[in-house]
Amino acid sequence: MNPTRPHRSCGGTISLIIHVAVLTCVTGGVFAQTNSGDTRSGDIMRGWRIFREKQCVTCHAIWDQGGHIGPDLGRSRTEHLSPGKLAGTMWNHIPKMLSRMKATGHAPPTLTRDDMAQLFALLFFVRSLDEPGNPIRGRELLQSRGCASCHSVDTSGSGIGPDLAKWGSYANPIIWSQMMWEHAPLMDAAMKQNDVAWPKLEGSDLVHIIAYVRSVGASAEKVYLHPGSASRGRELFTKKGCAQCHPGVGPDLATADLPVSVGALASRMWNHSPDMAKLMSERGVERRPIAAQELADILSYVLALQNRDDKGNVAHGERVFMQKGCGSCHEREEIADAMGPVVTKLGQDATPIDMATALWNHGETMLQRMSEAGITWPVFDDGEMVDLLAYLQSLKPSPKGSAPAGSK
Ligand code: HEC
Ligand code: HEC
Ligand code: HEC
Ligand code: HEC
Repeated sequence: MNPTRPHRSCGGTISLIIHVAVLTCVTGGVFAQTNSGDTRSGDIMRGWRIFREKQCVTCHAIWDQGGHIGPDLGRSRTEHLSPGKLAGTMWNHIPKMLSRMKATGHAPPTLTRDDMAQLFALLFFVRSLDEPGNPIRGRELLQSRGCASCHSVDTSGSGIGPDLAKWGSYANPIIWSQMMWEHAPLMDAAMKQNDVAWPKLEGSDLVHIIAYVRSVGASAEKVYLHPGSASRGRELFTKKGCAQCHPGVGPDLATADLPVSVGALASRMWNHSPDMAKLMSERGVERRPIAAQELADILSYVLALQNRDDKGNVAHGERVFMQKGCGSCHEREEIADAMGPVVTKLGQDATPIDMATALWNHGETMLQRMSEAGITWPVFDDGEMVDLLAYLQSLKPSPKGSAPAGSK
């Protein structure tokens, strides 16, 4: 989108991102430990290794790094992804993917369930990162949003607020957001005194501002955060008082229309800081300091809430199963062996990751049987895969004791 992309908000190249930024970017574990019980085991670094080993990278780029036969999997981030949706997307693309593989002489690599879990973690991770910030845009924003009326970035320290030059060492929007949250009450006071309205930040504004400040005052010092932990974030959400208002006085963060990247989410918190602060003092909610790592965890939790699958609808799932023609091969015990495994067997592993793994490994045979039987490859709309999984699970509870798809 931006012509100039000198700074990526979370490290330079993809290999950098994977090898270094996994530890520096707070988003690292956001999705590694999210929802469905089953993306939890994913490991981004291993996911990246599998992405290369299994040749995904020959066809798919992540942020322009890699092949361009398939879509860039780091982009197309307009909406929240959930494990069920990802499995559905994979299903829809199987025929095209397989034919491209054949055409380019790739044998489809087999993937274990564990491989797929790591790939899910990787794909969620890259989608939660912000696009690289643009320093030119950042400088404009610092002016147009009014920050520059109080902050300099050239160590002149002439402003009402502190000089931001030293902030060049913080590449991470979460650290910025945490600091801004900490200082919000005094900033708010300074703004009122100087008759400045609380500047609102949109989308990637904060990431551009960071890119600009870094381009001016980048120093060697770096502050590293560990990947955010959604489960720690859940506890902190209560401990820091967020849960006293969300949901209730404030919006339900699971259903609010929130952005998909951490940088943009941090901007939202900034926008609401003064209102939240005022409400907190009115309602006697103590404003407890939040460390950067804690905010990383809290944002992980909020993103995990957003990326959760809805609870699948079993009855609708059964209709989907029949309408898509799955039943004609998987329904009946007596013919099932000839046409495909019986449906109750499918029910054992009806999590998004299991489904994606099975599709990957059995897709070729299924596709072939379908074309023999004159069935066109069915395509899933949003949510249909989640309902289908719920139906399959209702047939046979998972022996692994994992949470049903869409719950939790
Ligand atoms: C030979 C090329 C090729 C290889 C290898 C390949 N893919 Fe794909 N993939 C494609 C093509 C082409 C599409 C787009 C299909 C379409 O538009 O219907 C696609 C689509 C996808 C999508 C859907 C993307 C979207 O946003 O719509 C995902 C996810 C995906 N592939 C994951 C993978 C993973 C994971 C691997 C490695 C295990 C892999 N692919 C290996 C060619 C490939
Ligand atoms: C009306 C003046 C004013 C405006 C406008 C303003 N700030 Fe501030 N800002 C301050 C003051 C005063 C402080 C110090 C507050 C404190 O010490 O708690 C501060 C603190 C900060 C800090 C922490 C700095 C440090 O070294 O501790 C950051 C980061 C920051 N502001 C960013 C911004 C950004 C980004 C914008 C624009 C979106 C902005 N500020 C707009 C007055 C302002
Ligand atoms: C005293 C009540 C209160 C507390 C405590 C509180 N919030 Fe809020 N929060 C609100 C209200 C009210 C809004 C909506 C404000 C608005 O629309 O300007 C909001 C908005 C938000 C938004 C933006 C939602 C959107 O749709 O853009 C986020 C994210 C958020 N809060 C996160 C948090 C987190 C994280 C905590 C704990 C650190 C927290 N809030 C603590 C009342 C609160
Ligand atoms: C034309 C027959 C046919 C249709 C229609 C069909 N399948 Fe299959 N399916 C098969 C066959 C055959 C296999 C076994 C492939 C193999 O052994 O590699 C299979 C395997 C599977 C597996 C892997 C099972 C395992 O034990 O790992 C899953 C999951 C699956 N199908 C789901 C579906 C779903 C969901 C639909 C409907 C959207 C569907 N199938 C439609 C024939 C079909």
